[in-house]
Amino acid sequence: MTSLLLDRIGQLVTNDPSLGDGPLGLRRDAALVLHAGRVVWVGASADAPAADRRLDAEGRCVIPGFVDSHTHLVFAGDRAAEFAARMAGRPYAAGGIATTVAATRAASSVDLRSGAAALAEEALRAGTTTIEVKSGYGLTVADEVRCLEVAGGLTGETTFLGAHVVPPEYAGRSDDYTALVAGEMLSACAPLARWADVFCDRGAFDADQARTVLSAARVAGLGLRVHANQLGPGPGVALAVELDAASADHCTHLSDADVDLLGDSDTVATLLPGAEFATRAAYPSGRRLLDAGVTVALASDCNPGSSYTTNLPFCIAVAVREMGLTPDEAVWAATAGGARALRRSDVGHLAVGGRADAVVLDAPRHLHLAYRPGVPLVHSVVRGGDVVVANG
Ligand code: NIG
Ligand code: FE
Repeated sequence: MTSLLLDRIGQLVTNDPSLGDGPLGLRRDAALVLHAGRVVWVGASADAPAADRRLDAEGRCVIPGFVDSHTHLVFAGDRAAEFAARMAGRPYAAGGIATTVAATRAASSVDLRSGAAALAEEALRAGTTTIEVKSGYGLTVADEVRCLEVAGGLTGETTFLGAHVVPPEYAGRSDDYTALVAGEMLSACAPLARWADVFCDRGAFDADQARTVLSAARVAGLGLRVHANQLGPGPGVALAVELDAASADHCTHLSDADVDLLGDSDTVATLLPGAEFATRAAYPSGRRLLDAGVTVALASDCNPGSSYTTNLPFCIAVAVREMGLTPDEAVWAATAGGARALRRSDVGHLAVGGRADAVVLDAPRHLHLAYRPGVPLVHSVVRGGDVVVANG
């Protein structure tokens, strides 16, 4: 096992306030030594010890690898026509998910695997070194198992989302479908998942149904997450806090009471700017959440319906422009915030003991992620101490 010296870093974002300035723990002229998949040394470039290999950052900025805590990468087909119709004025509704469910059920496992792997690779090239992947386009016991097997081939952060929508064969019988999800489907899927999630919103599952699924999932040993308050005000955020879910995701329509509940909880508010972008919805205020003491994460929500992007730099730029986050807050939210949303302490920062996951930016400062929107700024990606992407 060889060590890697990453030196001549013009600006290092550690996300550890004890290592540098401000909440991002910023250091100038820094270096990192990585060994056995971990950070083993952080300090001034001039003082860096030798290592087996060297990556010269040549004055570039280095940040922790992005932690994308919310994706739906396992699916077949796309919904480009639905997107075009929306951009021509049609509203977004939960029902579009059924189109992808039909395509996913009809797809071979080989095709599902290669599609999901291509998206995970795309995310890695954009700097995502930790990724959560949900099921939710199978919606039968066998198809949810199949989707989680595919997800598990990509990441340990797998999420069972059998309660995404009520599938067509259960139309008008949503309680029966809820019982299936909380019973037989959960039993089959729990061994393959770390998390369970429910889409608690209009056109999907109500609070009682969501509570049924999430409570059963907790008994089965899964951590909890909730798709909450995306399509309108509703009970999702309150339920997430009540059940100590790791994250309430979307948070597009929040009451003052929702914000207060989140501020007094360990539940992260995960904002998904790609979803408001692609559904032409109004952006929620991240500023309001941060000012209330809520921990905020940014994630891609990559899926073929409401947010077909894997790109966290894009999400950072939109969150800064449209959600009131400062560039510092947005970078933190896409790295340390994502780690909090996954209840992980080993990723999202670059301090001794943390995972050796880092992104070298073709830019002098992390600010450029928002300042230069749409420009591919990822120079190289290090994951587990190995250089896995080299664009420079
Ligand atoms: O997070 N909100 C529910 N699920 C996805 C949308 C999935 C789809 O439209 O296919 C989301 O936006
Ligand atoms: Fe989602």
